[in-house]
Amino acid sequence: MEVVKESYSEATHVVFSERIDGLSKIEDRGVNLAIWQRSPLEIAEPLEELMASGFKQAQFVYTRDQPIEVIGAFLDETIDLRSESAVILWNDIVVLADKMLEICGDQQIGISLDLISHDNCTSFHTDRQNLRLLCTYVGDGTYWLENQNVRRDQLNRNDNESVVVDWQEVRQMRSHWVGLFKGETYRGGKDQAIVHRSPEVLGRKDADRLLLRIDTF
Ligand SMILES: [Fe+2]
Repeated sequence: MEVVKESYSEATHVVFSERIDGLSKIEDRGVNLAIWQRSPLEIAEPLEELMASGFKQAQFVYTRDQPIEVIGAFLDETIDLRSESAVILWNDIVVLADKMLEICGDQQIGISLDLISHDNCTSFHTDRQNLRLLCTYVGDGTYWLENQNVRRDQLNRNDNESVVVDWQEVRQMRSHWVGLFKGETYRGGKDQAIVHRSPEVLGRKDADRLLLRIDTF
């Protein structure tokens, strides 16, 4: 697979894989971002339908004692899509949720599918979170920084200029890629968390994003 420079990194704290199983590498000591670099799914139709439908958000808390298929059923009941390929999208979310459960070992995960049409989280930050999975189905992907490109003592001041050492070295996920981000509460603490931010949408309709987020509690 061709990898563009701005998406790829040779930093040892980031693991790229062409298989979903590579996401499990997030558990390795010293790794704070695992990326599944995959080809875009063939779901243009349901995505267009969803973006045009006035959809804003769907949230679901999944507990381990439920069959995993309830996630797909919830989406099917909550979001009325006519495209036949919607099943591919729902199935993708189920598969990613299942992988997240396997990796984190928790009893519960939070699943959120959001239409993002406003700028939030555009300051580079670390998540106050254990693990977070992100996949941008529509729009620009999440920016992230190699550890060596971060001035950690400048975080939490809403000042990206001070945080980033070299703007030429800012990395970005591609749409449909899946990233598993290590947060501040993962063992190892705050200093091992991956620094990242959302891209701007600036209120431009054509820049709206559809983002899947799966969180540990
Ligand atoms: Fe974040």
